[in-house]
Amino acid sequence: MRTQVAIIGGGPAGLLLSQLLHNQGIETIVLERRTRDYVLSRIRAGVLETGFAGLMREAGVGGRMDAEGYVHAGTRIAHNDEMFRVDFEALTGGHVLVYGQTEVTRDLYEARDAAGGQTLHECAGVKPRDVDTDQPFITFLHGGKMNRLDCDFIAGCDGFYGPSRQAIPEEVRTEFEKTYPFGWLGMLSETPPVDHELVYSNSDRGFALCSMRNEGLSRYYIQCPLADSPDDWPDEDFWEELKRRIPAEMAERLVTGPSIEKSIAPLRSYVCEPMRWGRLFLCGDAAHIVPPTGAKGLNTAASDVNYLYRALLAHYKDNDDEGLERYSDTALARIWKTQRFSWWMTNVLHRYPEQSPFDLRVQQADLAYLRDNETAQKALAENYIGLPY
Ligand code: APR
Ligand code: PHB
Repeated sequence: MRTQVAIIGGGPAGLLLSQLLHNQGIETIVLERRTRDYVLSRIRAGVLETGFAGLMREAGVGGRMDAEGYVHAGTRIAHNDEMFRVDFEALTGGHVLVYGQTEVTRDLYEARDAAGGQTLHECAGVKPRDVDTDQPFITFLHGGKMNRLDCDFIAGCDGFYGPSRQAIPEEVRTEFEKTYPFGWLGMLSETPPVDHELVYSNSDRGFALCSMRNEGLSRYYIQCPLADSPDDWPDEDFWEELKRRIPAEMAERLVTGPSIEKSIAPLRSYVCEPMRWGRLFLCGDAAHIVPPTGAKGLNTAASDVNYLYRALLAHYKDNDDEGLERYSDTALARIWKTQRFSWWMTNVLHRYPEQSPFDLRVQQADLAYLRDNETAQKALAENYIGLPY
């Protein structure tokens, strides 16, 4: 088997890259470990930056997103019973789109089917080889036999646990990591969202987030100890705790109902440098993880795809390799700014077990500054709608 760009991982990053390249006549094959149904059953955040929405349109896959996605021109920040709004539109002229990652992935798979793109599911033992030579290839088990895929370039879009990052020699790789002493317990319920915008809340009992998928589907989160399990949280307890963590007038109008999904995710910040080794290029979770505060996971993956797509285009169309040479530095420069933002939002909104009275006062001052200062709000808004590529 041979292709121009071999893509490991059929999550949103790999699929978006393959669709953009396909539209330019550049051949790709996507190798995915799981079944398509499994990939489409993963529940993840649903806030799309301006740049990400633009890339979806550029890939010709923005139709349903534009028809069914919700324009959010602002967000709400609560601190116990106080609440204020950050107006993205007034501060930056921009907005975000609320449209679930599952829907994004579904649209990308459908576009790939329509274009006759090749995705091999249930590939096992995928291993990038000779990536620091001019003839990289991938070996993998599929359909009961060992296969070899030769290519010009490999895009490692295989998430945090995939094999691509491991193909960068350990002595070349530097990993930066920060873990947080809590997790998010998330719950999905077929109830109307409590507000038409997202509500990020810092309360004395810990962080809470009110989010949504559509008018009849809500997504809520509460900060919880890492040792907790979803079984420790019957629906009634979840709702009660959520109500205690959001302003009282909001708690009063919260519509509760049975959960249809409940899970706990630990929070972590992680970056691997470099993001390129020879002809292997890492994209998305394969190279970095952000805590979910600010919803940057999918958006950082899209920013990598943007740079890699344009670099590959310059290579194939203009014989210009500068973008490929600079890919790691360019992608990392934006990633680190987004890491800073996600870390800051996490710090300002959560309660830490070891927080001293001094730390608490500084956090309160940070929130008060944000509430009262337009420049501070503008900084949040610019980052939330997404820094330019
Ligand atoms: N071989 C082939 N595919 C693999 C392998 C492997 N060994 N390991 C993982 N994969 C696949 C996963 O099954 C998954 O479908 O790679 C894909 C990676 O997709 P995501 O984890 O969704 O990561 P990414 O595309 O970078 O998207 C980043 O989306 O999934 C969220 O939390 C993530 O929000 C972040 C964003
Ligand atoms: C979500 O809707 O799942 C969501 C929204 C915003 C975040 C994180 C998650 O910051």
